[in-house]
Amino acid sequence: MRHVLAAEQFSRADLLQIMDQAAEMEKIIAAGGSRMAAGKLLATFFYEPSTRTRLSFETAMQRLGGSVISTSNATFSSVTKGETVEDTVRILAGYADVIAMRSKEKGYAARGAKVSSVPILNAGDGPGEHPTQSLLDLYTIKKEFGLERPLRVVFVGDLKYGRTVHSLSQILRNFSNVSIDWVGPAELAIQPEYTAEGDRFFTELTDEVLESVDVLYDTRVQEERFADHDEYLRLRDVYIIDPEKVSKMKPDAIIMHPLPRVNEITASVDALPQARYFQQAINGVPVRMALIARALELI
Ligand code: CP
Repeated sequence: MRHVLAAEQFSRADLLQIMDQAAEMEKIIAAGGSRMAAGKLLATFFYEPSTRTRLSFETAMQRLGGSVISTSNATFSSVTKGETVEDTVRILAGYADVIAMRSKEKGYAARGAKVSSVPILNAGDGPGEHPTQSLLDLYTIKKEFGLERPLRVVFVGDLKYGRTVHSLSQILRNFSNVSIDWVGPAELAIQPEYTAEGDRFFTELTDEVLESVDVLYDTRVQEERFADHDEYLRLRDVYIIDPEKVSKMKPDAIIMHPLPRVNEITASVDALPQARYFQQAINGVPVRMALIARALELI
C-alpha cells in the first residue's frame, strides 16, 4: 500500500518521479482541475493545529475531483474520550479511500498504517517527521535551482523539534550535489541520526554562512514541544532574519520556512527577492495532488 510515513522511504528515483508528477499537477490546476479522483474520499484527521497542511491536502483532493471529510480539531473527536489511534484509523479507513493525519506524538502515522486498509499520509507526527512537507520543499528547491548544481542548504533554528528539518535533510541526502550546514543553539541541536560526514555545525548565524548559502531553511522554535516555558522564551529569538542579514546573502539565494513563522523572520523580509516561503506553501497543492493520486494508484 502506498503510505507516506517517513522521508527515508523514498529513493532518488521516487523523488524525481514525484517532482515530475507534481509539475504535471500544476498544469492540471492551471487547466481548471481534473476528475481523476471523482468518487474517492480523503479523510483529514488532525490531532494538532494546522493551516497549510490540512487545507492544501483538502484543496489538492478537490482539484483532483475527489471529496473530503475532516476533523480539524481532535477536541471534537473521540480521541478526547481515550480512543486509540488504531481504533480511529480502523474506522476512518472504513469511510474514506485515503487518510491524511497529524498527531502531537511521534510515530502515530506509522501506528495507524499498521492497522489501516487504506493509505495513510503522515501530515506531521509531533517532533518526528513531516514527509509531505519535505516533498513540497524539494519541489520548491527544484523549481528554483534544479536538482543538479552544487547547493548549500543551511537549516536554522529549532533543529531538535523541527520535524520538517528531519524529513528534508534525509530527502536531500539523495542528492550528492547538496551540502548541509546546521545553525542552532546547543539546546536545540540536530540529532546525530540526521547528520552526515561533511556537514558543518554553527551556533551563530555568521556572515560566512549568510554569504555562502543558497537555501536558508529557517524554522520556528516549537513552543509546544518545550516542557520548560522559560527555556522557550530564552531560545525563541536567537536568530532573527531581517533585511540587514538578508543583504549579506547572494541575490539568487532563497529563504524558505515551513510556516507558521513567529518572530524569526521579520515582515520586512517578505518583499525581498530572497523570500520564498509563501510560494513554498502554495507548492503544497500540486505536490499533495501527486501524493494523493499515487496513494490512490491513479498515476
Ligand atoms: N508547514 C506546516 O506544516 O504548516 P501547518 O502547521 O499550518 O500545517
